[in-house]
Amino acid sequence: MPHDSSWELYWQVRLQAIEDLGKCEAVLAASELILDLDAQGRPARLLELGCGAGQIIGALMDAHAELRGVSDSVGVDYSSSMLERARSDCPDLQLVQGDYTDPSVLEGLGQFQLVLLVNSLHEVFSAAYDEAQGEVDVPAGRAAVAEALAAATGLLAPGGYLLIFDGLEPPGDPERRVTLRFLDPEAREEFGVFVDEYHPFRIQAHWLADGWRVEISQHDFARYIDKSIFLSKALWETEQLESYQYYTEDDFRRELAALDLRVLELRKLTVNGFKWRSRVSIETPGVDFPDEHVLIVAAR
Ligand SMILES: C[S@@+](CC[C@H](N)C(=O)[O-])C[C@H]1O[C@@H](n2cnc3c(N)ncnc32)[C@H](O)[C@@H]1O
Repeated sequence: MPHDSSWELYWQVRLQAIEDLGKCEAVLAASELILDLDAQGRPARLLELGCGAGQIIGALMDAHAELRGVSDSVGVDYSSSMLERARSDCPDLQLVQGDYTDPSVLEGLGQFQLVLLVNSLHEVFSAAYDEAQGEVDVPAGRAAVAEALAAATGLLAPGGYLLIFDGLEPPGDPERRVTLRFLDPEAREEFGVFVDEYHPFRIQAHWLADGWRVEISQHDFARYIDKSIFLSKALWETEQLESYQYYTEDDFRRELAALDLRVLELRKLTVNGFKWRSRVSIETPGVDFPDEHVLIVAAR
């Protein structure tokens, strides 16, 4: 089965719609794990925490419908509008409405061979926004992510896999200054919107005299490029509320090790790099566009 050219064509067509968000990397990695489980004679019951409209888990269930365990998969999300879409697009997916950081929501779901957290943990982090500080309460947000990871791990069958796809905080000094040059007026204007409206953190931008260059921290640079594709789009309304950056690679590794999970793969990605490069160039020597997404496969 799979791995032949018709299977590749299937995925190319299936994943075209979500390519922009980089999620196809997550779907393909999950598909490989499902095939591996099947090759080992094990079922592949899937759980997606923060399943949204079911784009990820739905694609996996469709592609592997005949494999043992797949039809018994579950999606959890607290958004009723997302679940309504999932219900209509993925009729075989069992759906649970609720906050997956609340242990009572996950009670009684049983065990899963593959638990997916795709573009979801950053929302757990961002939910720790503190009105008084006017920013996300970072220690509280990071602790909430650690708790969510522990809850996800608790649902893994022995030898099961946890797959995480999400934003990544670049390593190094977050306050290091980076000078960017905008390549067109639209990109420059949109950056102003980002500075004014990005909610999780206050963005400190220092414009240089020519009006085309701006100095920001490395920390804010990663935030800007991740959000730049949503500026001027309807999705900005929700995207402006969420920080994709909450853990560095070292943070992920430490938290997963603390849960006795072995990291089998950790791939750092620059999703949509060609788009960032059409908006801004980097003037600071030795600085490149950061790897701002990560794909992790860990095993219990
Ligand atoms: C960006 S969407 C991603 C959806 C899906 N994983 C995908 O990649 O297509 C994140 C989803 O996580 C859900 N979510 C975030 N935090 C959650 C929580 N604590 N409990 C349940 N759902 C949550 C949101 O409602 C949203 O549907």
